Amino acid sequence: MKFGFFDDKNREYVITNPRTPWPWINYLGNEDFFSLISNTAGGYTFYKDAKFRRITRYRYNNVPMDSGGKYFYIKDGDNIWSPGWKPCKTELDSYECRHGMNYTSIKGEKNGVTAEALYFVPLKTWAEVQKLTISNNSKDTKKLKIFSFLEWCLWNASSDMENFQRNFSTGEVEIEGSVIYHKTEYKERRDHFAFYSVNAPVQGYDTDRESFIGLYNGFDEPRVIVEGKPKNSVAHGWSPIASHYIEVELKPGESKDFIFVLGYVENKEDDKWETKNIINKKKAKETIAKFDTTAKVDSALADLRKYWDNLLSVYSIKSGDDKLDRIVNIWNQYQCMITFCFSRSASFFESGIGRGMGFRDSNQDLIGFVHQIPERARERIIDIASTQFPDGGCYHQYQPLNKRGNNDIGGGFNDDPLWLILGTVSYIKETGDFNILDEMVPFDNDMSVARSLFDHLTVSFDHVVNNLGPHGLPLIGRADWNDCLNLNCFSNDPNESFQTTENKTKGSKAESVMIAGLFVVYGRDYVELCMRTGKNKEAGRAQKYVNAMVDSVKKYGWDGEWFIRAYDYYGRKIGSNENEEGKIFIESNGWCTMAGIGKEEGLCVKALDAVKERLDCEHGIVLNNPAFTSYYIEYGEISSYPPGYKENAGVFCHNNPWIMIGETVAGNGNRAWEYYRKICPSYLEEISELHKTEPYVYAQMVAGKDAFKPGEAKNSWLTGTASWNFYAISQFILGIRPEYDGLLVDPCIPGDWKGFKVTRKFRGATYSIEVVNPDGKSRGIKEVIVDGKLSASNLIPVFGDRKEHFVKVVLG
Ligand code: BGC
Repeated sequence: MKFGFFDDKNREYVITNPRTPWPWINYLGNEDFFSLISNTAGGYTFYKDAKFRRITRYRYNNVPMDSGGKYFYIKDGDNIWSPGWKPCKTELDSYECRHGMNYTSIKGEKNGVTAEALYFVPLKTWAEVQKLTISNNSKDTKKLKIFSFLEWCLWNASSDMENFQRNFSTGEVEIEGSVIYHKTEYKERRDHFAFYSVNAPVQGYDTDRESFIGLYNGFDEPRVIVEGKPKNSVAHGWSPIASHYIEVELKPGESKDFIFVLGYVENKEDDKWETKNIINKKKAKETIAKFDTTAKVDSALADLRKYWDNLLSVYSIKSGDDKLDRIVNIWNQYQCMITFCFSRSASFFESGIGRGMGFRDSNQDLIGFVHQIPERARERIIDIASTQFPDGGCYHQYQPLNKRGNNDIGGGFNDDPLWLILGTVSYIKETGDFNILDEMVPFDNDMSVARSLFDHLTVSFDHVVNNLGPHGLPLIGRADWNDCLNLNCFSNDPNESFQTTENKTKGSKAESVMIAGLFVVYGRDYVELCMRTGKNKEAGRAQKYVNAMVDSVKKYGWDGEWFIRAYDYYGRKIGSNENEEGKIFIESNGWCTMAGIGKEEGLCVKALDAVKERLDCEHGIVLNNPAFTSYYIEYGEISSYPPGYKENAGVFCHNNPWIMIGETVAGNGNRAWEYYRKICPSYLEEISELHKTEPYVYAQMVAGKDAFKPGEAKNSWLTGTASWNFYAISQFILGIRPEYDGLLVDPCIPGDWKGFKVTRKFRGATYSIEVVNPDGKSRGIKEVIVDGKLSASNLIPVFGDRKEHFVKVVLG
């Protein structure tokens, strides 16, 4: 069953039934100021950091689900309704929510009145703009009462939910004209406030939640709205809100726009006040003035659309298959921007409080984003590297507001450092900017111990070399990519975290074959980088370690049919036929086949066949098999999940592309595509009821074959799945891959594809690429024609001449 449809022309997903199986959300803003918004206008807003600068409040996992947001209430006689159906839940005559690129528009109709609320954050603006259009389609004049509503959060989203003995006394607001200002704590240590305005005179307002809603009412039935009269309440402590009250009269056929601006302001210490205790509103007024007419708002939206036209013009495909085209051209790239902005911090599955930016996560997110805005990717790489320690280890996460490593989480995840090589190499291949390697980058944010970014890559590489176990394989530390494989944790205390509790790494023999594969892939990249920058001696040194790792994997990481996953604390195999449960895992087989370890001896094909046989199912490739059915204290969190969920044999979508890429390394385009399609959301739209999460974005996990409900997805939006799937389809299946010296065209597609076209902007030129497949091949190049001339290579040179170049590649 579907709950809407794709409107590809407008790059929108249109939801036509508000009762989606889960709130289907969108993100507004892409730089500093952000909102999450659901299809019924639920969600919240923050500046930069969802924990430290939360502007509006949200209650997670609530009853009813998704309560609280940016609501409009319309009172038409005794009828009260909202354009997004919620919170009133009055049956609407029609409903439509359009989620687009960083904007959402929600339209409802009731008794001849339509209300359409458009929400977006204009470019380079610290504010969300809302355009509410009310139209009278009936034959009678309508006298309507309109109420806006949002609830302020007291800035720190964490203490906002905990410290009520203080919070209930601190709230402060100011009201001036049609603007409500939220200034809690501005008097003391804060230099920021928020505001909510409307570009029309108001006939009243409310700023105190209890006065507006009533202590025992819900968002669906605020007392003020039922009574049809605002209380003009001024919040003193308790829970400040912002609600404007507007009376509007509309003749038949008439329509009116109201523009609301929800903004954030920072003032310098000596410029905070207008007069004693009256805040300096200058910046707020400037922002309000920028968006005080429909024309200004429409033009800001047009700018946002243009911005996205431009971003999405860098890579686009015409394949003849709408489902593929829309995911590659629109939604997957959009999701990559979102994961770039938020890492794993703020979604409807992440509270925005618990996690900042992940070291490994943010590096991986870059591979789906770097082609969009390379300059921002560059800055991110430096920010991430700045949280590294001199020995190559690093904080697992850092906070976006202050860009400092997060001490609560700490470090010790031994895969982390290697991802910095991936991020940096992807950036250089996209841009050709080797200068980034000379940037001076601090360790642990301490500039006095800064070294070049290249040196950071060296210590990343060496962190593995310096932490090898008894089989010459990398020691796992707290965990590798799989945060839940905690081989040194031995936790039997329910009050401790599997990931941050003290680890028993001393004397541990726990080694990771996944990190070994990762090391071979990015170790080779490191070697190549050394050679390209004239560090031949270092290249030679590094190559020896890479070769030794290949040998160790062949010797100790191969189980006969597939690559084992790890060795445990005691030096016993994990992910081996010897085990009763968890005989085979996806990660090591993905990385070792991507690295091509033992390819000549047939190990890769064997491993990939084993994955197909044991891990593949209708909904994708599960993480491990058989699933764990009891708690193994020596394995940690992975065995704490019921079978089929999350890291215990769920279809963990993030690492399915590792196998897809492994299949392309082996030349098997049919299988790579089969795996791609299985987890691709646009192909799952018809089973939305089962799949549950948005059909326009990837989810982190789909319940696997051993689960109670196979096929049900969770944790949509913020997942490395987005970037890895884009990487797999764009660079390995379609095979258009940036390399240091040009753009490689090396597709690996299903044999029955006739061909496809890709437009790729790359280092200052546009490549119009046509791939044709007359002989029904998956792989192999018969002929390459560049600008009408036969070319000896499928590595298309860097033109950099701002011109369009035509490339035809014949497979065979
Ligand atoms: C985390 C990743 C981790 C993955 C697998 C995700 O939730 O963000 O860092 O690699 O889970 O455990």
